[in-house]
Amino acid sequence: MLPSKLHALFCLCSSLALVHPFDWKDLNPVAHIRSSAWVNKIQALMAAASLGQTKIPKGNGSYSVGCTDLMFDYSNKGTFLRLYYPSQEDDHSDTLWIPNKEYFFGLSKFLGTHWLMGKILSFFFGSMTTPANWNSPLRTGEKYPLVVFSHGLGAFRTIYSAVGIDLASHGFIVAAVEHRDGSASATYYFRDQSAVEIGNKSWLYLKTLKPGDQEVPLRNEQVRQRAKECSQALDLILDIDRGRPVKNALDVEFDVEQLKDSIDRNKLAVIGHSFGGATVIQTLSEDQRFRCGIALDAWMLPLGDEVYSRIPQPLFFINSERFQYPANIIKMKKCYSPDKERKMITIRGSVHQNFVDFTFATGKIIGYMFTLKGDIDSNVAIDLSNKASLAFLQKHLGLQKDFDQWDSLIEGEDDNLIPGTNIDTTNQHVTLQNSTGREKNL
Ligand SMILES: *[C@@H]1O[C@H](CO)[C@@H](O)[C@H](O)[C@H]1NC(C)=O
Ligand SMILES: *[C@@H]1O[C@H](CO)[C@@H](O)[C@H](O)[C@H]1NC(C)=O
Ligand SMILES: *[C@@H]1O[C@H](CO)[C@@H](O)[C@H](O)[C@H]1NC(C)=O
Repeated sequence: MLPSKLHALFCLCSSLALVHPFDWKDLNPVAHIRSSAWVNKIQALMAAASLGQTKIPKGNGSYSVGCTDLMFDYSNKGTFLRLYYPSQEDDHSDTLWIPNKEYFFGLSKFLGTHWLMGKILSFFFGSMTTPANWNSPLRTGEKYPLVVFSHGLGAFRTIYSAVGIDLASHGFIVAAVEHRDGSASATYYFRDQSAVEIGNKSWLYLKTLKPGDQEVPLRNEQVRQRAKECSQALDLILDIDRGRPVKNALDVEFDVEQLKDSIDRNKLAVIGHSFGGATVIQTLSEDQRFRCGIALDAWMLPLGDEVYSRIPQPLFFINSERFQYPANIIKMKKCYSPDKERKMITIRGSVHQNFVDFTFATGKIIGYMFTLKGDIDSNVAIDLSNKASLAFLQKHLGLQKDFDQWDSLIEGEDDNLIPGTNIDTTNQHVTLQNSTGREKNL
């Protein structure tokens, strides 16, 4: 077997692992090496990668979108985020999607693959861009609502750009935080001021569970830190909005002073995917400045029982069809109470990865094979999720826009939507006891 094919095999296996970590255990990659079907798949993958069949959609709103990175302070206790915003100009170069090779190494570790996998991923995707104008000046003359976005387990700040860019194109400023709780595949900070000056990064990689570790307390500790990081990101942006001078620890050509007086300070929301969905709920319970939240295919295990009754704000669950399971849905339903605004929809034929940019990172057949894509077209799925989100945000932030044209999506009224959930929770006793094996996901 050629070395290059072997590497691609890692790629293939790990893509499977991305979505079904437990199926992965049952796969023995060595046993499949001689299977010609697998070789065909590998060749298809190589071809797709080299043809660059990868296109993250542009936002559908009317604003041009800019993007920058902001780190303040430089330590691992500070805030690190990618900012998507309405921009003045549309003539800057596109944003590098995954800007450091260490993120690929981190992904490779997260997937439990050989370190060479990181090199392969970096080789194929390291120069890929996402359609936002890097460091373009902020469009002035309007105050924008703000969304803080929280990523999933094994993810990081840059790989939800299809969501961030679409929101920014509709007139939001989006702060996609990078968490330092050990849940990101990789993240970095600077040890001291001299490290900042020479750009000497200190990398933090994913913290893996050790045998014997209790998952629930560990994840609960993480989700609490994540919520603090969302609130801290909000503090930072609101401080900048007030005119506090902030020195970005990153050497980027975007003057953060432009953000002064740019935020509509009453119109704040939090959105997140998977572990980030749990983070949305934890954040809402701790920080009343956020007026509503949207949990994309939330993974509920990290949450402590006390939070369910402490979420006065409106909350919207947008689920995939394949990822959800009774124990998880039961926890979502614990957030419900008659006096609180709760909505839930499920996107037909969708998978957990439909909310992550990776769903666009491969050709149709390949993506389907790796369950980065579901039966539904990835563009249709993200479009529904984004439009339903916009309608919900308009309603609960009190925006004066035309997003109410998509109000029916909040109710699940579309051929590609299921109102509520596809999961039957009537057999809850059994499923609760047997759910732990499935509770490990991005
Ligand atoms: C970068 O930081 C590491 C860790 O603090 C240190 O060991 C290394 O010497 C630094 N490199 C440079 C060029 O200063
Ligand atoms: C924009 O709209 C098109 C057509 O409705 C859709 O295919 C695409 O996914 C949308 N893009 C986003 C980012 O929602
Ligand atoms: C849960 O699953 C285990 C094996 O997977 C089985 O032995 C046990 O009886 C199941 N528990 C219930 C309540 O169904």
